[in-house]
Amino acid sequence: MTVDIQVCDCSEGDILAADVFNHEGVKLVGCNTMINSFIIEKLLEMGIESVQVYDPPIKASTREYKLKYLISDYKENILIVKDMIHELASGKKLDINKVSKVTDSIFKHLNDVNSDDIMNCINNIKNSDEYTYLHSVNVAFYSMLMAKWMNLTENEIKKAIQSGFLHDIGKAKVPLKVLNKSTPLTKEEFNLIKKHPIYGYYILNDSNFIDIDIKRAVLLHHERVNRTGYPFSISAGKIGILTRIVSVADVYDAMTSDRVYKKKATPFAAFEMFMTEGCTDFDTYVTSEFVSHMATFLTGTDVLLSNGEKGKIVYIPPHKMLQPVICSNGDYFSIDEKGLAIKEML
Ligand SMILES: [Fe+2]
Repeated sequence: MTVDIQVCDCSEGDILAADVFNHEGVKLVGCNTMINSFIIEKLLEMGIESVQVYDPPIKASTREYKLKYLISDYKENILIVKDMIHELASGKKLDINKVSKVTDSIFKHLNDVNSDDIMNCINNIKNSDEYTYLHSVNVAFYSMLMAKWMNLTENEIKKAIQSGFLHDIGKAKVPLKVLNKSTPLTKEEFNLIKKHPIYGYYILNDSNFIDIDIKRAVLLHHERVNRTGYPFSISAGKIGILTRIVSVADVYDAMTSDRVYKKKATPFAAFEMFMTEGCTDFDTYVTSEFVSHMATFLTGTDVLLSNGEKGKIVYIPPHKMLQPVICSNGDYFSIDEKGLAIKEML
């Protein structure tokens, strides 16, 4: 349930149940942001009298229980995906029961936990050795959330989950020594890796139970709307919504994960990429929905700044999402005011 509450009566830790706009209709704070004293003060300064929050607040014990349940499912899904990939690599067929099990296990968390619990779960379990399996499950979760934020139907949300965790299934047919190589790939090796969407499509095509939209998303997840993708460099009109969702989820998770050959980037670096050089590669509607929702989960996060000092993100202006307001050593400032950058999320 949600309830309208006077801003002056808000408590730190209340979670917004709706976006907050100023009198000109400009979004000030996003839905699902946890309220803190800085946000209360700014809303009052801007003449905002009331906001919508969740009521009753989720009890810590219930939330903790749901989070434990989510983490245990998440870890189990990683093992199932690992099993599926090993079976395919050894020449077995796709196990459709495992596909259904992972889909249902992820889907049941759609309304059961907060989206920021899903983010915490993903961010706390990152292990570059198991990257391929973690990545598949993470892309499924991100794709589910994007489909939900874009108000797609339940059936489409389930398809987004399946497209997400199956998107790289074709890598089962690429030798591990090529996939895990930490030195630069040769042209031949890179060309081999670039075939994984086609291998994935054929693996799924062998099964009668996989929907055509999911097969298309797997086949086309490296295509880009400006025709710079692979394997076909097709035009935007042929790239469906599921593919557009999965490609953003795929790139975001890859950028923000440690790999054997690179350290992870911050979410802000990934947002910046989507909003600058990446804005011609990806669907702008999908990326703007993704970035604006994802940014709301970062309020309250501790960060390491480029000057070596630590701080906390207290506010992310929706119209300036790359320049969060930081509290550091008792001082509040917008990160661009001081010419700083966020070096690391702590
Ligand atoms: Fe891929």
